[in-house]
Amino acid sequence: MIMLAEQIALKHDSPLTTLQLYPSDYELVLKQLVLSQSSDSYPVYYWNNGFVFIVKLSLEQDQLKYGYPLQDCSNPLAIVQQKKLSPGLYIFDNLLDFEHLTPIERSVRESQIFNCVNRLKFQLGIKIILLGEWIQLSPKLRLKTEQIQIGLPTGVEIARTLETKLSHQPPIKLISACQGLAWGDIDHELEQFLGVPSEINSDSLTSLTQRFIELKDHILNNSGLNLEYFSNPDIPRIGGNDILNKFLFDKLVKLNEPLAARYGLKPPKAMLFVGPPGTGKSLTAKMTAKVLGYTLMGMSFGDILGAENPDRIVSLLLELADSMGKVILFLDDWDKGLADWESGGPARRIVQKFLTWMQEHTSPVLTIATVNRINLLPTELLRRFDDGGIWMLDLPHRGAIFDIFNIYLAQCFPDQFTNPSPKSVENTPWTFEQWVELIDEAEECTPVEISDVVNTCLADWYCSLSARERIDGNQSAILDFDYLLTKVKQIDKASVRAADSIQQMRNDAWFAKPASSQDSSPFRLEEEPLLGGGIG
Ligand SMILES: Nc1ncnc2c1ncn2[C@@H]1O[C@H](COP(=O)(O)OP(=O)(O)OP(=O)(O)O)[C@@H](O)[C@H]1O
Ligand SMILES: [Mg+2]
Repeated sequence: MIMLAEQIALKHDSPLTTLQLYPSDYELVLKQLVLSQSSDSYPVYYWNNGFVFIVKLSLEQDQLKYGYPLQDCSNPLAIVQQKKLSPGLYIFDNLLDFEHLTPIERSVRESQIFNCVNRLKFQLGIKIILLGEWIQLSPKLRLKTEQIQIGLPTGVEIARTLETKLSHQPPIKLISACQGLAWGDIDHELEQFLGVPSEINSDSLTSLTQRFIELKDHILNNSGLNLEYFSNPDIPRIGGNDILNKFLFDKLVKLNEPLAARYGLKPPKAMLFVGPPGTGKSLTAKMTAKVLGYTLMGMSFGDILGAENPDRIVSLLLELADSMGKVILFLDDWDKGLADWESGGPARRIVQKFLTWMQEHTSPVLTIATVNRINLLPTELLRRFDDGGIWMLDLPHRGAIFDIFNIYLAQCFPDQFTNPSPKSVENTPWTFEQWVELIDEAEECTPVEISDVVNTCLADWYCSLSARERIDGNQSAILDFDYLLTKVKQIDKASVRAADSIQQMRNDAWFAKPASSQDSSPFRLEEEPLLGGGIG
């Protein structure tokens, strides 16, 4: 872990250094610090709040050894003040866990640290490192101390580490599997792998890759980041929304090719989907991740704000996304948390952090946010979505309704609807007149209502089978046109129930690009002539 050593090389500008690290990096960092001091034969001591002593730290056969007590101690900072420490490197943990302190306790602790730095200036040969997983210093302390932050390793650092440890050119898949893991996790897994002597070949590297993928899944699921899990879309494509689909699945995919970078082209960094519920905003984000082969990392704004320490969660999340690189950062239902924007509050601070990151980050992370009510988003936030665009996903027009019906009919009744993307009614089992009748009834339906009604028909068909037929399981599912038509007539359309709020949504999002072009299908209704008509 040579690169880690470079990161924690102390600069000696200040006798006191703070070092922020991931929980799994502790052991590696402590080992590295002992190693770095052994060349100067400088003793290393350690304390955390589980010890009543300061202990000596050494390495024995590459393992950390916590030695005999040097000094009784409940607060090591007091000992520094009493000038009771002998020369050496002292590593103290837990003193920067300010989160659990009251404001007064915190102020006392900060003063103690401040005083220590002043004292240590006159005690040569003593250096102190304060460890912490989330270090937030006051400006007063920031000026007095040296700060090091051990982030997640980048793809290049991972590649170099793997190559050194495995003496093998690491496959790209192995590198990607490690992206998003901390140094300590990678090191631990590699040690385990190398601990069992066996030949390193493509098979063993594949199984190592799998181990890393499983480890990352486990870590992310238990990270406290409340990352949302999104299943893969279970339909082959998105109905309607032709303009947006072309942008995503043609232009965006091409701009993400490594070849595009040769021309200095960069893929867009952020997109925003706005529209009524059930029109495919979340589905489109999932499909984009699938098509690009990116990881979909979702987090609801409500969860961030509800977390114990929202600022920390956001930092971890953004660092994780940057480190993994090929990620869609999915901010679903973003309007939910923005109600207190004007009043300042944590929402504003968090969003501000996102804004800065969205502008600055150089990783290929694509942010996709979805909202129902765009009026809750402040203008400075909207501007950030200019490159990928703000898109309006509205209720499907008549041609799109035909399209969406066929996706679900082919999924539920595949023996009857053999083509999920029919170019015309000739490729379906129903006539043009039947389709017109169905579309007349389904106008103003959302795609989710269409999907639901077709699924209900399949469930009804199955439940109508006899016990024998269900056991045999060899019946083809067939849908009767009139049955579907009746079911569609019974839909209690959300768009009718909430007509006013949907219209308001459209008015507020007047500047958004339409996801769908005008209906040019044979089912479109001719525009009615304006009252008064033309001349003649
Ligand atoms: N354009 C579409 N084509 C096919 N199916 C769709 C489409 N839009 C939505 N659906 C279906 O409806 C379901 C719900 O859609 P989705 O969750 O994407 O809606 P949404 O716009 O995110 O709604 P909300 O505003 O409530 O979050 C999808 O899982 C999918 O089955
Ligand atoms: Mg959604």
